[in-house]
Amino acid sequence: MAEIGSRTNIVLVGPMGSGKSAVGKQLARELGLDFVDSDAEIETRTGVDISYIFEKEGEAGFRVREREVINELTKRQGIVLATGGGAVLEPDNRRLLSDCGTVVYLKTTIEEQLERTRHTRHRPLLVDRDPEAVLTELMKIRAPLYEEVSDLTVKTGERRVGAVVSEIRKRLDDDNRRPLKS
Ligand code: S3P
Repeated sequence: MAEIGSRTNIVLVGPMGSGKSAVGKQLARELGLDFVDSDAEIETRTGVDISYIFEKEGEAGFRVREREVINELTKRQGIVLATGGGAVLEPDNRRLLSDCGTVVYLKTTIEEQLERTRHTRHRPLLVDRDPEAVLTELMKIRAPLYEEVSDLTVKTGERRVGAVVSEIRKRLDDDNRRPLKS
């Protein structure tokens, strides 16, 4: 957990379809911080989408790129950082994320994840597989890691983005964790 003086960022962790990007964008706007999405950053840098990286380099290749990007982004200040659902797998990532700011776990249900990922083709881990079985298995492994790395847990599910953002802002204020603008 980051010390008060180093709480310059907010990091969102949680599984696919928990609303990290939507919540992160609105939260950043309201707090006057920059929004950064680690997956989008990987796509910008490589010039290809995440699915293509999985196809060419496998998940292992993607994780190497994800590690590099997290290593760089966590050096920034005054950002809301949305991470990919598997970013917490790597111990170094967990350390960097929790050291760079307040980590918020967006917690949701498998049903809601299924609903929110139903129409997307850009989640290679779910393509041509049984999404419910995959999401359940991933959650088993990752839920303890989301819990471990986070300072706050906020339920998302069916709630509107605005309601989730308000709760995060309130909890940050209650804990005196509002990030400093750079
Ligand atoms: C992944 C989640 C994705 C993306 C990649 C792998 C995962 O991000 O990083 O497809 O391992 O759960 P989102 O959580 O933003 O969908």
